[in-house]
Amino acid sequence: MRPTLAPFPATRLRRTRRSQALRDLCQENVLTVKDLIWPIFIREGEDLADPIASMPGVARLSIDRAVRAAEEAAELGIPAICLFPYTDISLKTEDCAEAWNPENLSNRAIRAIKAAVPEVAVMTDIALDPYNINGHDGLVRDGIILNDETVEALVRMALAQAEAGADILGPSDMMDGRIGAMRRALEGAGHTDVAILSYSAKYASAFYGPFRDAVGASGLLTGDKKTYQMNPANTNEALRLIERDLAEGADMVMVKPGMPYLDICRRVKDEFAVPTYAYQVSGEYAMIRGAADQGWIDGERAMLESLLAFKRAGCDGVLTYFAPAVARLLQPAV
Ligand code: PBG
Repeated sequence: MRPTLAPFPATRLRRTRRSQALRDLCQENVLTVKDLIWPIFIREGEDLADPIASMPGVARLSIDRAVRAAEEAAELGIPAICLFPYTDISLKTEDCAEAWNPENLSNRAIRAIKAAVPEVAVMTDIALDPYNINGHDGLVRDGIILNDETVEALVRMALAQAEAGADILGPSDMMDGRIGAMRRALEGAGHTDVAILSYSAKYASAFYGPFRDAVGASGLLTGDKKTYQMNPANTNEALRLIERDLAEGADMVMVKPGMPYLDICRRVKDEFAVPTYAYQVSGEYAMIRGAADQGWIDGERAMLESLLAFKRAGCDGVLTYFAPAVARLLQPAV
């Protein structure tokens, strides 16, 4: 007897993977330059780009250089940049007053960038850590992070940034009630069009290490941030935080870090269907760049694959230090 042939499969999933053309036609998600928010570290001085050892390829830029970076963002089609100040130790205090100084580094940079490249959206970070002598995001008394007093300080900081011309405020502090307090203050001051992108689900993560070097906060931090940043074991809590921030007036929400938390991005998008962002943080950047620099992985492919994963997980965009590099790669061929 002849062996019976297996029934011919009607479904051969390899058909749509056969050629680049078929793969292109069947591609479900795409990464574009419009998905990128470029985080930029700023410092005092002139014509300076001071390299950050733990983030190869990233530097702290003086304001004039940051303006040039914003111009580059405009040329590349990157819609937004996000500013992080490196604050001199002499300006760090217990009360963090430099945070709401209208003339602080961050506010001067916002004004300079908005004057030069108004079409690029400027996002800011709202938290006290760059200005706090003990490295925490909140005010500290007897070793306790004070919630409500911190919120008052953050509101002042938000108003100063809105006044300077920020388009998007990014509260990254994880205090309770800050979004509502900021939203009320912004409305009261006539800043009705300033958007809030809340770092709603921000985890207490080991992946922020290089960032803390970049802003000069690493040596100062006493203890950890676990009483305000989330436990990496939790998912449901992230949804409660997002729901709360939306109810208080957030326009957009963020999950942070990115790659280890793609499950959270997906749940947030499915549950709330609001503009959802992830932050591919400094440690994630350092891992990919570090391995690529050693020749252990293909850096370009790893960068693109990691960023596409955010789109697949439902994100509308991603904050990434790879923004300029990936934008250059994604430029349409001419
Ligand atoms: C500060 C802040 C942090 C980051 C963004 N804003 C660090 C922290 O919470 O300690 C991390 C970003 C990165 O690692 O790239 N509130």
